Amino acid sequence: MKIDYQEPSKDLLMRIDIHEKYGSANIDVWTNDLLKPQAGMKILDVGCGAGKLSFLFNEYTKGGAQITGGDFSEELLEKARAKNSETGSTIDFQFLDFNQPFKFADNTFDLCTSAFAIYYASDLDFTFGEAHRVLRSPDAVSGNTGGRLFVSGPLPENKQMFYDIIKEATGAAIPPMPGSSRFKGDIFNTIDKIFAKTELHKFENHLTFPEVAPFIDYVRASLGEDRKLWTSMFNGKDEYEALIGKIEAVAKKWFDRDGKLVMTKVVGGILATK
Ligand SMILES: C[S@@+](CC[C@H](N)C(=O)[O-])C[C@H]1O[C@@H](n2cnc3c(N)ncnc32)[C@H](O)[C@@H]1O
Repeated sequence: MKIDYQEPSKDLLMRIDIHEKYGSANIDVWTNDLLKPQAGMKILDVGCGAGKLSFLFNEYTKGGAQITGGDFSEELLEKARAKNSETGSTIDFQFLDFNQPFKFADNTFDLCTSAFAIYYASDLDFTFGEAHRVLRSPDAVSGNTGGRLFVSGPLPENKQMFYDIIKEATGAAIPPMPGSSRFKGDIFNTIDKIFAKTELHKFENHLTFPEVAPFIDYVRASLGEDRKLWTSMFNGKDEYEALIGKIEAVAKKWFDRDGKLVMTKVVGGILATK
């Protein structure tokens, strides 16, 4: 299944900023606690975007891990490289299309991660097969356990309030989201089939919006035409603005009723060992 999806950097960075400003929990802390990346490790971050996870691991290991971030968006890779220069980091940001063979040798990485990205893959067996191939095999002689894969993505109950407001505003069905519709089923099952051991972890983050405006910023950064996920709901700029207007009216009604808007992100983390 080919999924036509793009992520404009302004939308991605806006959503990350809103999670940080209004969230009750920190996904970075959860990720580091779960993975505990170590200096000396070789890490591959697939669909790295502007480098959020790559920089997180770089900071956590105090620059001691050898980190490669791969993405097919040159716009996002440029942002990541600019941050490398700003922070004096040496993360290797390079072009990688996860629907194509990864340009790395077998048994290379200790950890392969992908945050909110790899579930857009067209052929899950192929892409997770590539992740498995480039991870280190367990080695009884040296006592090395196998390389680990970590994939995060939305669980089906993610952002219920966001979808409920859009449903009430439009009366229309929500287009299927490749992440939440595939994560717990196809994606977990594919990884479980290929890897020796697979666990599902869960992270919850309550985003409390103290006014309607930042919620609408979040809606705009999710429904943007360039992302191509929501285009069944509008055709062109005028229809897009009319749609946002309807969503804003319902969000105001909910806000007046409840005194706040609370959206819960429910994220799954699949952790697998080769
Ligand atoms: C929601 S963003 C997440 C980015 C980053 N991991 C983060 O947590 O901020 C999804 C990323 O997947 C990337 N992506 C989508 N399809 C891809 C493909 N076929 N190959 C590589 N990257 C892809 C997008 O360019 C984007 O950077």
